[in-house]
Amino acid sequence: MQECLDKVFKNYKGNVEELIPLLQNVQEESGFLSDCAMSEIAKFLRVPKSKVYGVATFYAQFRFKPKGRNHIMLCRGTACHVKGAPRILEEIEKNLEIKEGETSADLEYSIESVACIGACSLAPCITVNEKVHADLTPQKIENLFKRKK
Ligand code: FES
Repeated sequence: MQECLDKVFKNYKGNVEELIPLLQNVQEESGFLSDCAMSEIAKFLRVPKSKVYGVATFYAQFRFKPKGRNHIMLCRGTACHVKGAPRILEEIEKNLEIKEGETSADLEYSIESVACIGACSLAPCITVNEKVHADLTPQKIENLFKRKK
């Protein structure tokens, strides 16, 4: 972890204005923002850790847990919403016993939502590790994830 942070910190001066790009860069390098990384960022910028968390938690782009081996992205775009995305999310959450934004304890699954995955004519849809699953129904979701119960 420290090696990864040192590599990122090398590209910054340590000014508080660099906080957001720094958070983005650390997340790019390590996949998520660990509590340890948040402490190191706070030290590097000489600001309270609570400020780093305050900024990071404001933006949906930052994650504080690693992605699961199967990363689910649920589309919340208009076409998907109208065609039942909220019900699809409910079904995924029920089957995997995690909520949107969470990663399962065994790191097998994680769920996040996105504005549009670019397959609007196939709404409602999700991706699992970049593979698109389209024209979904609660039954299809159950078939997709039921073996994991
Ligand atoms: S609105 Fe869902 S793919 Fe575009």
